[in-house]
Amino acid sequence: MKNKITKAIFPVAGLGTRFLPATKSIPKEIMSLVDRPLIQYAIDEARAAGIKEFIFVTSRGKAALEDYFDHAPQLEAELKKKGKDDLLEEIKNTNMDSGAIAYIRQHKPLGLGHAVWCARRLIGNEPFAVILPDDIIAAEKPCLQQMVEAFAENPGNMVAAMEVPPERASAYGILDVKEDHGSLVSIKGMVEKPKTGEEPSNLAVIGRYLLTPQILKNLNLKQTGAGGEIQLTDAIAHEITENRPVYGYRFRGQRYDCGSKSGYLQATVSFALSRPELRDDLLGFLREVVNVEQAAQ
Ligand code: UTP
Repeated sequence: MKNKITKAIFPVAGLGTRFLPATKSIPKEIMSLVDRPLIQYAIDEARAAGIKEFIFVTSRGKAALEDYFDHAPQLEAELKKKGKDDLLEEIKNTNMDSGAIAYIRQHKPLGLGHAVWCARRLIGNEPFAVILPDDIIAAEKPCLQQMVEAFAENPGNMVAAMEVPPERASAYGILDVKEDHGSLVSIKGMVEKPKTGEEPSNLAVIGRYLLTPQILKNLNLKQTGAGGEIQLTDAIAHEITENRPVYGYRFRGQRYDCGSKSGYLQATVSFALSRPELRDDLLGFLREVVNVEQAAQ
């Protein structure tokens, strides 16, 4: 098995029901933070981590996503004619080299584990990354790059981990910690969506994974778990029972759950505030809103 990670799976076949009716016709991943779709942040993070092959697991209604990564000759010609070089440069970042991107269909939304399994033939016998584009992570060093560097020192399955308050734990997969080494944590179990009070730690799994090809073999068993879905965390937890290493990685950065309305709005405000051309206007507006809200209380 080679040790360098050059392939990433982007599971984008979910129904995105929390954003209905918008997601009736727009894939969730095309929704934008300021002016860039969620998927562009995920691609940029993958590129920074050395990913060369991008595998999308899609479903019906995701055509806009495929178009997004295509060349747009007419638009590019028009921008060139008008001398809009900065926009041309932005557009170039969205283009993918021929052969660098692949689309696989998940015919039924049977769960994240199943979505990853759908890409098994494109992965073969090498470690790979999984990125959930609705988890957006603002970080000085991109999260996946931090993980790839940790993986080079400690090869083994690795999940991004984030501390959550106990009352939020039931929304996540939670790690059962064996040894805590600071940023790297070795784990002895994982529980998907534990009942409140039964969470084994405060460390939640979020949407970045580095996985060994054995995970795909575990997913071959197609066992269903929480919510009747084929869970990726179950396939990873199985490795622990076989005494193969599984790590949690406490990344440095701020994660936004853009799969939820509240997280998406918070990310929008935060990313807008980090743009110098928008910051002053937006700050002024936010102050006004807060004043009005406080006065009304
Ligand atoms: P979510 O749990 O956020 O589900 O999936 P969802 O369908 O996207 O959104 P809601 O809950 O209905 O609003 C987490 C990730 O796993 C992918 C999703 O596309 C998302 O990136 N996924 C989930 C699949 O690709 N296939 C599945 O069967 C389930």
